[in-house]
Amino acid sequence: MTRTVYVNGEYLPETEAKVSIFDRGFLMADAVYEVTSVLDGKLIDFDGHAVRLKRSLNELQMAEPCSMDELLEIHRKLVELNGIEEGLVYLQVTRGSDGDRDFVFPPADTKPTMVLFTQNKPGLADSEASRTGAKIISIEDIRWGRRDIKTTQLLYPSLGKMMAKAAGCDDAWMIEDGYVTEGTSNNAYFVKNGKIVTRPLSNDILHGITRKAVLRMAAEAQMEIEERLFTIDEAKEADEAFTTSASAFVMPVIEIDGVMLGDGTPGPIAKRLREIYLDESRKAAI
Ligand code: PDD
Repeated sequence: MTRTVYVNGEYLPETEAKVSIFDRGFLMADAVYEVTSVLDGKLIDFDGHAVRLKRSLNELQMAEPCSMDELLEIHRKLVELNGIEEGLVYLQVTRGSDGDRDFVFPPADTKPTMVLFTQNKPGLADSEASRTGAKIISIEDIRWGRRDIKTTQLLYPSLGKMMAKAAGCDDAWMIEDGYVTEGTSNNAYFVKNGKIVTRPLSNDILHGITRKAVLRMAAEAQMEIEERLFTIDEAKEADEAFTTSASAFVMPVIEIDGVMLGDGTPGPIAKRLREIYLDESRKAAI
């Protein structure tokens, strides 16, 4: 089915949507993005994603392409036009282009490029992967130092996923200076003796919107949380582990670098948090 996508103010069939070859998003990954999930045809945590988008744009001195109210309208319209019940909305804003390649930014009044498209994913909330759990490998984190900004510089995370696949696994966690930063496209956690451990927020990791919601819900459920640096060896010795992201919610991890966690099935805390997250998010969806 041909999707209807959004490009700079227009809703078009995906085959007719066009962006300039000089666009800085294309030439320099000079672009930020957001991925918002859709359940029951409604947006999950839209406000969190909108606020983070604003922050990413500000950090890179990029203009806001439209108001946050307009952004919500565009998201909703695309979900409706494409009949999405479960899936994702991808949004990307680039610095645009003044018609040539130059390392120097184009003039400040250059129009940003904004594109959005939907991804239909029936069964996202009850995925096979969430029932079996993920196997991960660890790799060195060689990304740039501003991972708190959600840019489209995703080549290394993409290579990381390919390294995981080559090793017969699902994903990779990255390590810097001996400590786990995050997954290729998710935040990382382990659980030991009932306590959830995850890296604190800084410029080293993306400030996950799902992370924020899940930690709040865990605290409300009287679960113990510790935000601190941790090593991959600690995670390997954990009772269980999991990741969070808008595209996979709470995903149990059952193996790290070939070491099985617990009995090799999704752990009780990860399962419980996934349930709570899906439940609460559906109620708060807009
Ligand atoms: N990725 N860390 C990284 C490096 C990410 O790319 C993501 C999300 C997260 C989790 O953030 P959130 O909970 O806000 O989705 C953490 C999205 C889903 C992606 O690139 O597709």
